Amino acid sequence: MASLISFSTLNIFVVFLIIGSTSAQLSTNFYCYSCPNLFDTVKSAVQSAISKEARMGASLLRLFFHDCFVNGCDGSILLDDTSTFTGEKRAAPNFNSVRGFEVVDDIKSAVEKACPGVVSCADVLAVASRDSVVILGGPSWDVKLGRRDARTASQAAANNSIPPPTSNLNALISNFNAHGLSTKDLVALSGSHTIGQARCTNFRARIYNETNNLDRSFARARQSNCPSVSGSGDNNLAPLDLQTPTNFDINYFNNLVNRRGLLHSDQQLYNGGSTDSAVTDYTNNPGSFFSDFASAMIKMGDIKPLTGSNGEIRKNCRRIN
Ligand code: HEM
Ligand SMILES: *[C@@H]1O[C@H](CO)[C@@H](O)[C@H](O)[C@H]1NC(C)=O
Ligand SMILES: *[C@@H]1O[C@H](CO)[C@@H](O)[C@H](O)[C@H]1NC(C)=O
Repeated sequence: MASLISFSTLNIFVVFLIIGSTSAQLSTNFYCYSCPNLFDTVKSAVQSAISKEARMGASLLRLFFHDCFVNGCDGSILLDDTSTFTGEKRAAPNFNSVRGFEVVDDIKSAVEKACPGVVSCADVLAVASRDSVVILGGPSWDVKLGRRDARTASQAAANNSIPPPTSNLNALISNFNAHGLSTKDLVALSGSHTIGQARCTNFRARIYNETNNLDRSFARARQSNCPSVSGSGDNNLAPLDLQTPTNFDINYFNNLVNRRGLLHSDQQLYNGGSTDSAVTDYTNNPGSFFSDFASAMIKMGDIKPLTGSNGEIRKNCRRIN
């Protein structure tokens, strides 16, 4: 009798493990038989895009972030607007800002040629992000796969779920917590800003109006290509990491310690608060940044995937089948 009870308790526990975890069906070998050349195919397409324009690695990584934070990693950000459908591309955090959709099309076409109708657009973004980070000198990790593509998108959710660069530390921490990510994940993932560019409109208020925790000569240098008047030069670019914006390294954290974070939200991570020590640790230990970043990317990729018979495998990432 005692062994009968413990047997069924174990069963319930196992069933709970399978149902209770949102990402139980994602696995690193998901396309092992159905698309054995997936990794080589994506890597060479990403490599060729980055050879043409080094910034593209940053743009692909950001697409994955903006996909995952809006109702999960489901390829919803890739859907084009139509006369009867409003997607996420014109949402506030994305409009005039996210880029790389043509490159995603190229990668997806190459993957479709190798294995038609098998690999989701959501998974293409996950693999392309990892490859981008590796090509630019960052860490590698095994990408979990098996996500399916959404047949819907939400502009409202895109407006509300992605943190704005005006956020203070508490807002950043609670936004990430709401996505199942810890404060440590927040700091590690923000290290993505070691690559890529931002537009004047997103850092103007910081370089003109902030006095606390801002290096004055850095602010002056940034002002030279970002006019103070809103509406002029809004799209002028500056590197998020002033030294090495196409190398995935720890200079982003070095800059924060030197009060040279470009975005208000960046500098919030080193502003006398609870995340200062994590920032300092990463400046002293690139290896721990790399390993925390890799773990946090896997966690971010686990946000609410569509699996099983939910969603679909889109043929063209811009439209539902
Ligand atoms: C912590 C909260 C975050 C905020 C407030 C934030 C905000 C921003 C902003 C405002 C830009 C510049 C956009 C523009 O000016 O057009 C940007 C760029 C970028 N973000 Fe973030 N971000 C955050 C976290 C992340 C995360 C978690 C990732 C990746 C995992 C990421 C990856 C990037 C990359 C790579 C770029 C450069 C893109 C390019 O050059 O095309 N960011 N971010
Ligand atoms: C999202 O934000 C954009 C830009 O601010 C705005 O035009 C749009 O109406 C918003 N969409 C929703 C559904 O709230
Ligand atoms: C700086 O702050 C002042 C006063 O709040 C405001 O009028 C001005 O528009 C701000 N300038 C920028 C560039 O944000």
